Amino acid sequence: MNLCLLISLNLVYRCFHHDPMIKDAPERHLDPKGEDHHDAKLDRCKGIEFDAITPDEKGNTFFFKGDHLWKGFSGSAEISSSIFKELDDYHHLGHVDAAFRMHHQEDANVHDHIYFFLDDKVFSFYNYTLENGYPVEIQQEFPGIPSHLDAAVECPKGECITDSVLFFKGNETYSFDIKTKTVKKKMWTHLPNCTSAFRWLEHYYCFHGYNFTRFHPVSGEVTGTYPKDVRNYFMSCKGFGHGGGARRLRCSEVKLNAVTTDDKGRSYAFHDAMYLRLDTHKDGSHHFPISRLWKEISGGVDAVFTYGDNMYIIQGDQVYIYKSAAHYTLIEGYPKPLKEELGISGPVDAAFLCPKQHTVQFVQGQKMYEVDLAATPRVIKKERPIPFPKIDAGFCDTDGVKVFIGPEYYSYETPMILALSKLRPEPHKISPEKFGCEA
Ligand SMILES: *[C@@H]1O[C@H](CO)[C@@H](O)[C@H](O)[C@H]1NC(C)=O
Ligand SMILES: *[C@@H]1O[C@H](CO)[C@@H](O)[C@H](O)[C@H]1NC(C)=O
Ligand SMILES: *[C@@H]1O[C@H](CO)[C@@H](O)[C@H](O)[C@H]1NC(C)=O
Ligand SMILES: *[C@@H]1O[C@H](CO)[C@@H](O)[C@H](O)[C@H]1NC(C)=O
Repeated sequence: MNLCLLISLNLVYRCFHHDPMIKDAPERHLDPKGEDHHDAKLDRCKGIEFDAITPDEKGNTFFFKGDHLWKGFSGSAEISSSIFKELDDYHHLGHVDAAFRMHHQEDANVHDHIYFFLDDKVFSFYNYTLENGYPVEIQQEFPGIPSHLDAAVECPKGECITDSVLFFKGNETYSFDIKTKTVKKKMWTHLPNCTSAFRWLEHYYCFHGYNFTRFHPVSGEVTGTYPKDVRNYFMSCKGFGHGGGARRLRCSEVKLNAVTTDDKGRSYAFHDAMYLRLDTHKDGSHHFPISRLWKEISGGVDAVFTYGDNMYIIQGDQVYIYKSAAHYTLIEGYPKPLKEELGISGPVDAAFLCPKQHTVQFVQGQKMYEVDLAATPRVIKKERPIPFPKIDAGFCDTDGVKVFIGPEYYSYETPMILALSKLRPEPHKISPEKFGCEA
């Protein structure tokens, strides 16, 4: 079966070969010795200290405990060897010590492979299959790294100085440079001993007990209030969750406020007081409060567009302009009245700018207004009707314009064609894979 996932708003469809083994893996499983491995006590909502956590090459996250695993942020436990078959050959070990997904694009033989650590051995899996020649001694592949590890996590260049792996054992951390195979030992004694570690949405998490602590992958620094309970963030459990994080909307109920992509290629959808990253599908999708990235914004937004390295966030009759770098920083003097900055009175329903253009399109009701950002003062240059009474959000990239209305969107080649069209094209549906909503 092929599962086609809508992976980005520029309508690139990526079709994975869907491994039926995963979907159809039985929840109860008898191993060849006839032992029933289904363990009713393995309820991750009761508070589990995981042995290992890793994503696979398709962005599924696996949580390991004993000889079981959980796939994704919801669902029940299954036997690990139903997915990673060859782990069964070493079944007597009963658990994995650590696991990570390798990030090293320079070397296709290792990139995106999942490495499992059991006692003094390392196993490399790709496409859920053990690679030839494995397992090997850990020191053969990772010289300087001890056996009987507690945790491991990838750290790509840009987040670490070079493509690296962080290994944890007791109170010691080892930063392993994948290319040069050199090791730096760190004493991050302020961190709890991690029993598993996970990189997710460019952040690094040390898991200990049923808690986790976020740390900086280079300095080990912990900022913010930790530990936090895993069940509020990394799984959906009744009675847990943080203001929408674990709550999943039905796709049919989705109503976006804004969609934009910044100059670093980060794409966001905004709904209510939450945002969702659209381009990190390999990490799964998750909703966060807008104020997590744009500290000065509270509540929902009306429209967002990107112009160069500036992100314009419109709320009522005010506009906030953020400089986009590693973090978003509000430019001094903002927010300012929309009318003063952009020559249009709020509120607006949507705003978008096509690549390499200087003209932003504002939508208010059935009207679309064009404002030239390169001109001073900024004033409405053109006014055009659009064939919708009211839209929720608009977006433009090299594939053209998308107009979002509730759980559907419409595609047009250019803003001009949107304005001139009399007939509506077939709508597309907002998909679960893309927006993290429930089908
Ligand atoms: C992945 O493994 C399955 C069998 O388990 C095989 O049918 C498929 O061709 C493999 N895919 C790739 C990309 O190697
Ligand atoms: C952390 O690991 C060290 C060994 O490196 C051990 O001595 C210490 O007791 C551990 N701490 C906890 C809280 O388990
Ligand atoms: C780290 O663990 C070792 C035991 O493995 C212990 O001797 C040492 O005191 C610990 N260091 C700190 C700072 O906790
Ligand atoms: C989790 O963290 C809380 C503090 O936030 C602490 O009280 C609790 O003992 C921790 N539990 C585990 C199992 O680590």
